[in-house]
Amino acid sequence: KKVGILISGRGSNMMALVERASGYEIALVASDKPEAAGIGWAREHGIATFVQSPKGMLKGDYEAAIDRALRDAGVQIIALAGYMRLLSDDFVARWRGKIINIHPSLLPKYKGLDTHARAIDAGDAVAGCSVHVVTEELDGGEVLGQAEVPILPGDTPDTLAARVLEAEHRLYPRVLAEFCAR
Ligand code: GRF
Repeated sequence: KKVGILISGRGSNMMALVERASGYEIALVASDKPEAAGIGWAREHGIATFVQSPKGMLKGDYEAAIDRALRDAGVQIIALAGYMRLLSDDFVARWRGKIINIHPSLLPKYKGLDTHARAIDAGDAVAGCSVHVVTEELDGGEVLGQAEVPILPGDTPDTLAARVLEAEHRLYPRVLAEFCAR
């Protein structure tokens, strides 16, 4: 299957999806941020890219541009990877069941932001990441796969985030491949 990845920044999950691509093909990497570090990396690796800042655009027009770029590239599945913008209900409906996301918590725990600080503050012994289907409910769709990591004494949100991120890089390519096969 042909996959389009949406990013907003660093793009380390996108890099993991590219480097471990098997059972799917990355047809496009798109960013809402022209300065996203991941875009330069994708270009250097010969991957088609699409950059569109939403600044000064109506959300509907912005999403229509992304939609067109994805469809022009033949994309069948969208993988969100650190894409920091909420997709409209309309967009989600047009791609129903075809968008997945990686979230840095063991869903249904800690939807939204600051997941690592919240897990530490709660005194949790384990943290982790989840790949889920995107629906209209933020971080709410079917969970496709999860990976756990320990929370260690002295962990800060940053040290925990780094440990979870390594787990994300192993989890996301495997779950995407499984999702594309079903
Ligand atoms: C990851 O922690 C991911 O779980 C979250 O945003 C972060 C993106 O990092 N949705 P990167 O851009 O993939 O490096």
